[in-house]
Amino acid sequence: MPRLRTNTKLKPSKKADLQVVKPVKTTKYSDINLNAWKNYDHIKTDTLWEFPQRLREHGHSNEYHGNYIPQIAQQLYERFTKKNDIVLDLFFGSGTSGIEALNMHRRCIGVELKPELAESVSEKFTPKELVTDVNIICGDSTSELAKEKVKARLEIMGEEKAQMLILHPPYDDIIKFSDKPEDLSNCENTEVFYDMFEQVAQNGYDLLEKGRFAALIIGDSYKNSEVQPLGFECMARMMKLGFRLKAIIVKDIQGNEKAKGKTANLWRYRALAGGFYIFKHEYVMVFQKV
Ligand SMILES: C[S@@+](CC[C@H](N)C(=O)[O-])C[C@H]1O[C@@H](n2cnc3c(N)ncnc32)[C@H](O)[C@@H]1O
Repeated sequence: MPRLRTNTKLKPSKKADLQVVKPVKTTKYSDINLNAWKNYDHIKTDTLWEFPQRLREHGHSNEYHGNYIPQIAQQLYERFTKKNDIVLDLFFGSGTSGIEALNMHRRCIGVELKPELAESVSEKFTPKELVTDVNIICGDSTSELAKEKVKARLEIMGEEKAQMLILHPPYDDIIKFSDKPEDLSNCENTEVFYDMFEQVAQNGYDLLEKGRFAALIIGDSYKNSEVQPLGFECMARMMKLGFRLKAIIVKDIQGNEKAKGKTANLWRYRALAGGFYIFKHEYVMVFQKV
């Protein structure tokens, strides 16, 4: 009978012996495991963002004119927040930031000026979620009162400061959200818009934890046959307040558009006749409080 040969093949290979599971390595502000960085193909690290379509599932809809696409929140939250962190959105609108915070196991505090909107957005969340996960404040984000209210909510949620700040202001008067004098879409002129934006950004700065990130989502406008560089001016105002600029991302807005086609030819004619270009992008600017 042939003897059983004890050869090295029956022993675990040396290579397997040496295979060590790397520990999880994260930054202070994200749960991304840097030791498994190749697993994060879906996370963007370049400055050109194209999303051909708005995400409509998981609680999101497109009923509010002027809301941002949820993919922006997904990208920002995964890179700049940890599970259970609080995102502060000072222009809450239809609550995209809050919905995505819940989807991604983060929490959110949102401030929105229009009472009827703050009220209807609340209906998107359960009474329990409105206590523990998403706090909606109806108020004017330029004001000291709104800042105090945010502080009180943070305290109830067991935090002193928020871990991420989202600013998605009106793009000056492109879409008029209300007739209220505190509404940034209803300013007397663009200079006043910039000043009011700066007040909101100052409140955001004061409420944000040191070392954490802020995002400004904004597009430019045309007024009196001239480009109003809203994005760059608001960016400059934030830098003046002490935010460190980390990225200027150009985002294709075609996925935002509700309906196109009908007016496209008219705008093309106007562009050719007036010597201007049709906006196809907006900005996502990322800052850090250092
Ligand atoms: C561009 S929308 C934000 C949309 C939101 N990101 C979303 O996805 O639904 C701007 C919002 O800011 C609100 N707003 C304008 N001025 C404000 C102010 N002073 N304080 C708080 N909210 C304000 C408007 O009513 C509007 O809903």
